[in-house]
Amino acid sequence: MPAISFQSVSKAYPSPRGPQGSTFLALDQVSLNIEEGEFFGLLGPNGAGKTTMISILAGLTRATGGSVSVLGSDVQKDFAQARRKLGVVPQELVFDPFFNVREALRIQSGYFGIKNNDAWIDELLESLGLTDKANANMRALSGGMKRRVLVAQALVHKPPVIVLDEPTAGVDVELRQTLWHFVAKLNKQGSTVLLTTHYLEEAEALCGRIAMLKTGRIVALDKTSDLLKNASSNVLRFKIDSELPAHLLGKARVTGRVVQLPAHDALEIEQYLTAVREAGLVAQDVEIRKADLEDVFLDVMTQNKDSVHSVGATA
Ligand SMILES: Nc1ncnc2c1ncn2[C@@H]1O[C@H](COP(=O)(O)OP(=O)(O)OP(=O)(O)O)[C@@H](O)[C@H]1O
Ligand SMILES: [Mg+2]
Repeated sequence: MPAISFQSVSKAYPSPRGPQGSTFLALDQVSLNIEEGEFFGLLGPNGAGKTTMISILAGLTRATGGSVSVLGSDVQKDFAQARRKLGVVPQELVFDPFFNVREALRIQSGYFGIKNNDAWIDELLESLGLTDKANANMRALSGGMKRRVLVAQALVHKPPVIVLDEPTAGVDVELRQTLWHFVAKLNKQGSTVLLTTHYLEEAEALCGRIAMLKTGRIVALDKTSDLLKNASSNVLRFKIDSELPAHLLGKARVTGRVVQLPAHDALEIEQYLTAVREAGLVAQDVEIRKADLEDVFLDVMTQNKDSVHSVGATA
């Protein structure tokens, strides 16, 4: 039985453009099974539909087609059961300003009918570096600390399936490491983890399998190691003071002075460097590195250039 199962899931929203009554598909027949014990990454650009998938999974949004289940419990037909099996860290920082951290966690335990949860609450506070904030009012916490509380809240009922929507957005390096250490430990102990992040090096390091979503469709789905193996293998990286020749610019990823060009072999690397020299430019700090998940991601996204599909009037 999969830990999380999406079967032909679609979600239509009222179209922000187009005639009244028209809709656009934020999710278009998405099917995806995540097995128990996986550490799974869901990646995609802004607006791809990641949070929509998670909202449907958490029962916060209704799918307009298809079905979703958590460890065999249908999210719509069996909401209470499905919800119990899930711990969701939402992307948006939502919290009740009237309680302190410990109270918020006790109340959350109460929602799940759990009494005397303080031993686990203490462990969560400790693992997330919140012990000295236990009595602080939620209003008095910084953004990163609020996010830590959201993580603790999601885990308060020891859910077997943990869903993290951008948990490290706005979080400092130290907490990111603490958080990943903790989540990896839960995963080792058997929890299934579904993660969305824009930090691709985190996804590469943590996730055994990855799905890439673009405008509501899955455009890549594979083991992380296989995604990397099938990538264009090498990247030539250098710094330059003027604009690249046009034919290279089309292929390059440019960040300020840093230019990165995907290359399949030594010959291609040589051709790039020759082209730079012939344009009268000087490449500095030249490096060749292996392609990483960010390169794969950009590759997949440019191969699937495709705008919002399916605009039509609702019935
Ligand atoms: N409540 C809503 N009403 C109308 N459209 C919505 C609503 N929520 C999301 N959308 C649209 O659905 C699409 C998918 O949004 P979603 O939040 O799922 O993207 P995302 O992949 O999580 O992006 P991000 O990386 O920015 O978090 C977007 O085009 C968004 O504008
Ligand atoms: Mg999102």
